[in-house]
Amino acid sequence: MSEIKIPKHIAIIMDGNGRWAKKLGLNRIFGHRNGVAAVRETVEICGEIGVKYLTLYAFSLENWHRPEDEIKSLMSLLIEAIIKETPDLNKNNVQLRTIGDLSSFPENVTDKLNQAIKITSKNSGLILTLALSYSSRWEISEAVKTIAKKALAGEIEPESINENVIEQYLTTHGMPDPELIIRTSGEQRLSNFLLWQGAYSEFYFPDVLWPDFKKKDLMKAVNEYSQRERRFGKTGEQIEQEKKLI
Ligand code: IPE
Ligand code: IPE
Ligand code: MG
Repeated sequence: MSEIKIPKHIAIIMDGNGRWAKKLGLNRIFGHRNGVAAVRETVEICGEIGVKYLTLYAFSLENWHRPEDEIKSLMSLLIEAIIKETPDLNKNNVQLRTIGDLSSFPENVTDKLNQAIKITSKNSGLILTLALSYSSRWEISEAVKTIAKKALAGEIEPESINENVIEQYLTTHGMPDPELIIRTSGEQRLSNFLLWQGAYSEFYFPDVLWPDFKKKDLMKAVNEYSQRERRFGKTGEQIEQEKKLI
């Protein structure tokens, strides 16, 4: 059997916290609380198996439409988790980043996030990016706005705008596209996550709810990814031929 391929970049839509809590007859926030443990385990394993980038969808721009008490609890949980986890992230050489419209967050949340980002900024191991108040359409709209302004100011030639130029203005600038996107809970949609970056990602949709996502589930996803043939528009025969040449 050929060796297992480890993706350089894994992105995860962590879904199913509410249903997990409901199954136990508990409040949704209890599910979010238990979701933090799954985040911790996933970060650790990704570091161990040599994933370079892990991007976690933690809160979408559309999630602001949730009931006020759930949003409040999520914000408190986020602050609590950052305070609690930063020392371990630092110890494990993890660099924390965020993508999303952070300007919509309360100041106490952004303050704590920025502190954690600063503390871990020199770390050279796993790059952990939290997508917070993130929307891919928002991100692309912002990029278009910036490019249009630059074109008006004569700093960009409209004819020179191509994929590489657009990539430079996305919040994920400089990161490789995710080879693998996982969404837990059995839902099979992107919910406005990495629409541009996921153009050629492999998708994996386990039925497991996010708080139950464990090492074995991540390894199953990586194994499945390993067996997929990524063709990027070419034929299977071409890919076989290219493999022989390596
Ligand atoms: C994902 O779990 C976490 C967030 C969106 C913040 P959900 O809260 O969406 O859980 P379900 O989908 O209702 O089960
Ligand atoms: C997507 O989950 C966002 C996150 C996991 C953070 P949702 O639960 O908000 O997505 P929809 O509304 O079911 O598509
Ligand atoms: Mg959900």
